[in-house]
Amino acid sequence: MIILGLESSCDETAVAIIEVPEGAGLKETRILANEVFSQLEEHARYGGVVPELASRAHIRKIGPLLARALDEAAVDPNHLDGVAVTQGPGLVGGLLVGLAVAKGIALAANVPLAGIHHMEGHLLSPFLGGADADSLDFPFVALLVSGGHTLLLHVRGIRNYAFLGQTRDDAVGEAFDKGARLLGLGYPGGPAIEKAAVGGNPAAVVFPRIMLDKKKFDFSFSGLKTALKIHVASRPEGKMSGRELRDVAASYQEAIVDTLARKAVQACHHVGCRRLLVAGGVGANQRLRRRLVEVAEGAVALHFPPLSLCTDNAAMIALAGWVGLSSGSPLPPWSTLDARARWPIADICSTIA
Ligand code: KG4
Ligand code: ZN
Repeated sequence: MIILGLESSCDETAVAIIEVPEGAGLKETRILANEVFSQLEEHARYGGVVPELASRAHIRKIGPLLARALDEAAVDPNHLDGVAVTQGPGLVGGLLVGLAVAKGIALAANVPLAGIHHMEGHLLSPFLGGADADSLDFPFVALLVSGGHTLLLHVRGIRNYAFLGQTRDDAVGEAFDKGARLLGLGYPGGPAIEKAAVGGNPAAVVFPRIMLDKKKFDFSFSGLKTALKIHVASRPEGKMSGRELRDVAASYQEAIVDTLARKAVQACHHVGCRRLLVAGGVGANQRLRRRLVEVAEGAVALHFPPLSLCTDNAAMIALAGWVGLSSGSPLPPWSTLDARARWPIADICSTIA
């Protein structure tokens, strides 16, 4: 089967084409084309994603990216077996761009159209490749950490996802981005804080680790951000530099990665699972990776897909589309596929662990 995938839910415009041979499984997927345009530069000077600018960039980019992907994969649209598009959650303007293009192609090529939950794409992304792909199997716990999501799921099998927890307020990427703004660092905040923290003392300032209930796997990062705000305000002229800035950045980062690592490993023990997948932009943080190794103490195997598959891309949406198309269950008609800006993760989870 040859599946076209489209992703436009946030600030990446992405088009991909994958091929899954007849009778093959997830791991035998071949990526024929994987085009991603990151809008980072468009939003950088505003310190965050501006929805209207994101929509305009999706409109500008999706056509050329589609043409390039078809060309690169040497696939005629009439030879597609299906189209998959991110239906939500995300910014409605961007979602509408992807949906309009997806509907047009599906109708013209007379193939089925699957509306995909963006986070299901992230869950399946590790099967698309990378050094880890062969050793990853169901079941695993997934820690999905990006600018918009902080999520723990027990992934028991295809379309068998159990919800474990999520953030009650800010997403973890947001905690990095807002923290960086308070510290006068650039955007995106995660890499900026990681860089500023190099050589800093992570124990210099004890920021709160909001762990909530030990048997629950929800997160909360807004109190941490407030603690940083209070700390910054207490400094002369409300700013820091040099060694002090390094120490505060390292301490703030440590509070975040420590919380994530402890909660994720606790979740693995809670459900009796020995594999943990980390995906999403924050998964690029090297201190998070090291802290996970420390906390896991060898009892949990850690999987970090390559960053190009960790961050937003359309190959993961195409793969989720293949899962939907090959499941045998009927798909809703294309005319009922609307953008779902809010789409609770619970809707795609079979049970609550
Ligand atoms: O998954 P992603 O690329 O896009 C979505 O939000 O969907 O994640 C972006 C987030 C941003 O908040 C960014 O600050 C954070 O990931 N991030 C990092 C690092 N690289 C990106 N956070 C911590 N450390 C990093 N090295
Ligand atoms: Zn994402």
